[in-house]
Amino acid sequence: MKDQNDQGFLHRYFLENSSKRLHKWIHYFDIYERHFSRFRNASPVMLEIGVFGGGSLEMWREYFGAGARIVGVDINPECKKHEQDSIEVFIGNQDDPAIIQQILRKYPRIDIVLDDGSHINDQIITSFELLYERIHPKGVYMVEDTHTCYWDEYGGGLRRAGSFIEYAKNKIDEINAVHSRNALPISPFTRITDCIAVYDSVVVFEKRPQGARQAPVTEPL
Ligand SMILES: C[S@@+](CC[C@H](N)C(=O)[O-])C[C@H]1O[C@@H](n2cnc3c(N)ncnc32)[C@H](O)[C@@H]1O
Repeated sequence: MKDQNDQGFLHRYFLENSSKRLHKWIHYFDIYERHFSRFRNASPVMLEIGVFGGGSLEMWREYFGAGARIVGVDINPECKKHEQDSIEVFIGNQDDPAIIQQILRKYPRIDIVLDDGSHINDQIITSFELLYERIHPKGVYMVEDTHTCYWDEYGGGLRRAGSFIEYAKNKIDEINAVHSRNALPISPFTRITDCIAVYDSVVVFEKRPQGARQAPVTEPL
């Protein structure tokens, strides 16, 4: 259990929130800090799928600092009202290639994607496939609330084919394709992915171009 002094910026922001409604699992704040802190004050472009009350868009703008651009996409046209300085909201379905292309045309460099949208398994996968290869080569793609991967009303279920968590498990094999003795082809995902981090209800993909594997030996002189 962490004490008050361990709280990072985002957790404190959440507790002291005096602006728009925010609803988050407490353990997400550490995960955000771990994967997003390198982008602070580095003018990142973040795409958040799922805007709702607009509270998280403001939180991200505060967190990432001046120069950050926060882009939201939501199926609910009401969410357009959450646009402000440095915050743009697109209206559309997260699995619609046309809206994703529209976002990518306007923001060819996206550093961070956070999927907090429908939480429907096949939509999470479609958004990932539309976006992952297109975001920055050292970008990060986070999917939250992946507990819905275990819930049938979201297209999930324990070890159910087609759930996003099963999709992510297959991606672990793709990271290791080089060692599969040709059982699995080296895919674009293999070439561009550094790691997958799996937490309770959150999966994070860290991108980084992968060079040829080397395993040199050094010996004491
Ligand atoms: C959990 S809320 C987002 C909360 C927000 N990120 C926050 O932290 O305050 C989910 C949002 O996803 C939107 N949504 C649901 N289905 C969607 C879809 N297929 N495409 C885009 N947005 C969707 C809903 O309208 C809702 O506003």
